[in-house]
Amino acid sequence: CAELGMSRDLVGKKVLVTAGPTIEPIDPVRYLSNRSSGKMGFEIAKAAARRGAEVSLVTGPVSLADPAGIETVRVETAREMLAAVEGCFDEADIAVFAAAVADMRPAAPAAKKLKKGSDADALARIELVENPDILATMARRKSKQVVVGFAAETDDVVENARKKLRAKGADYVVANFVGEGGAFDADDNEVVVVSAEGERSYPRSSKSAVADALLDHILGDR
Ligand code: CTP
Ligand code: CA
Repeated sequence: CAELGMSRDLVGKKVLVTAGPTIEPIDPVRYLSNRSSGKMGFEIAKAAARRGAEVSLVTGPVSLADPAGIETVRVETAREMLAAVEGCFDEADIAVFAAAVADMRPAAPAAKKLKKGSDADALARIELVENPDILATMARRKSKQVVVGFAAETDDVVENARKKLRAKGADYVVANFVGEGGAFDADDNEVVVVSAEGERSYPRSSKSAVADALLDHILGDR
């Protein structure tokens, strides 16, 4: 009864969602990371599950609890996230990459804690190497999947989202503004969805409502 009036248009479909940040160790006590609460990705996973999908949620460290009824895989680094995603991408019908993946990782994390005094040089110059691009890697492998990326931008939001759509081979890129007053840690969000068909703006609303609108948009095009 709780679902009375709700659309069950994803029954029989599998949906994969990445969420949250990744964290990349510098040493056993320090890491570099991105800002991300995980809320948007979790809301997409929950909306898809409400609509009947079988959902796999691969998330970096966030303070949110595993959503009921959703297979939730907890990872830390980008490489762990990629490995988890590779395990369920092929069978997914829709793959949504909402995670804020760290673009770089320390090249050689220290096994022991670096000390400010004796390891000052190492701490002042942490060599970084690029992480795999999970979305681009999976988009190259896509068959039936609808691939959805996100673009967190502080400026030229739509233009940058269009570039990412092309560069990564996604079917949709959901762009949001993340400067001051933007989406970080907020419960609501304002997005523009770009695709080969054009672009569509959604007014500011709860991340839960944005999640449903996004699924409506994707399913409406099919
Ligand atoms: N993404 C990913 N793996 C990465 C980096 C990004 O899967 N190593 C995904 C994100 O989950 C998002 C999309 O790619 O769906 C865009 O991420 P974003 O950080 O906005 O773009 P980048 O290509 O990393 O470019 P930049 O950070 O320089 O803007
Ligand atoms: Ca990035």
